[in-house]
Amino acid sequence: MDLFAELAAAVGAEHVLTEPDLLAGYESDWTGRFTGRALAVVRPADRDEVAAVLRACAAEGVGVVPQGGNTGLVGGGVPRGGEVVLSTARLTALGEVDRVSGQVTAGAGVRLADLRAHAAATGLDFGVDIAARDSATVGGMVATNAGGLRVVRWGPMRDQVVGVEAVLSDGRVVGSLSGLEKDSTGYDLARGLVGSEGTLAVVTAVRLRLVPALPHRAAALLGLPSTAAAVAAVGALRGPLLSAVEVCYADGVALVREHRGLPAPLPRDCPVYLLVEYAGEHDPTDELGAALAAVPDLVDTALAVDGTARRRLWAYREGHTEAVNALGVPVKLDVAVPPARAAVFETAVRAAVSAAAPGARLVLFGHLAEGNFHVNVVGAPDERAVSDAVLRAVAAEGGSISAEHGVGVAKAPWLHLTRTAAERDLYAAVKRAWDPSGILNPGVLIPR
Ligand code: MLT
Ligand code: ZN
Repeated sequence: MDLFAELAAAVGAEHVLTEPDLLAGYESDWTGRFTGRALAVVRPADRDEVAAVLRACAAEGVGVVPQGGNTGLVGGGVPRGGEVVLSTARLTALGEVDRVSGQVTAGAGVRLADLRAHAAATGLDFGVDIAARDSATVGGMVATNAGGLRVVRWGPMRDQVVGVEAVLSDGRVVGSLSGLEKDSTGYDLARGLVGSEGTLAVVTAVRLRLVPALPHRAAALLGLPSTAAAVAAVGALRGPLLSAVEVCYADGVALVREHRGLPAPLPRDCPVYLLVEYAGEHDPTDELGAALAAVPDLVDTALAVDGTARRRLWAYREGHTEAVNALGVPVKLDVAVPPARAAVFETAVRAAVSAAAPGARLVLFGHLAEGNFHVNVVGAPDERAVSDAVLRAVAAEGGSISAEHGVGVAKAPWLHLTRTAAERDLYAAVKRAWDPSGILNPGVLIPR
């Protein structure tokens, strides 16, 4: 049997896509930055079908690119040329919420918004929230160790995962969904797969920890004179109710205003904006007000207690991605530095980008509590030079070249900046041990 016949036998002929117009949506990321041709797209319905697909591809030595909601930003979920795209779109089983353990089992293809709605029906929530919530899937979020807006409160995906079920490239199934909170039996395979970007196994389902739904929220937009002042503000705002601290800058806010037709967010223009949210079992407005009173160097502020006012403030921050993309295809570099180095890094990255790409437009925003900056550069003639300059500035501050989007193909050439030779040898050995045939997401994370 040839590969196409085997794939059709595995998942049903109607779930093996080969027509160019059907493949197109799977072959590019949504920003248009990463594009490659797929041999086929397969859409297995369960773990056994995933195993059959992987066995068939391994026998032919054909690469497999797992793809969830295709919201990734580092080229890790689109083909590079000639691979089979394994879409998790049909792995959408969502188990009953277990109130005793506070956990739920979700298929890799479950969308974040659906998971949160499912949890909300029982008075619970999922700790991770990201702007791409309507499309991003649980499997992709595990693969990239997604973080997003509420890491300051609940941690990234790694902290939510209690168990995984995954299929090796030879078709064997590993992992457990039993949800044991205590299990000290050696290596933690489940969390070992978090952040593995589809290079070790295909995650088919995950057991996730849920958190209490916090019905009361209050948000504030702070106008500040500098990144150093914003970092000092994070210190003043930290506390048990703090749920988000997002940073953006005057040029990014102006761009969002233009793109969405919004009025000025605050009466006074400010160089730096910090969006803060407190959430709790009771109305946190008083606590937020008291914390704001302790913020040094505050130029201006707007407080939002009802949902409409909060959404209005969030629009200035969440509108960044879309507004940047409307300018052109951006080079997007998601990085983190220790928060205490954030102000130094901001100056360094602006200098690095203007030297590497004079005339290009730089838009910075991110999650300041984790020192996580999204560095967006539009109009750079040489993408490699910009990436090199930015990632070297990150390494110089003891940072991470990937905070929450993964390494993908975009940053694999720079892995050496923050991983030693010994560590890269271990990465390669781990890859060989899990995926000896080397078919899983070739070129991602570990440079070819
Ligand atoms: C965000 O924080 O909005 C996301 O990481 C998306 C982006 O970086 O554009
Ligand atoms: Zn982000």
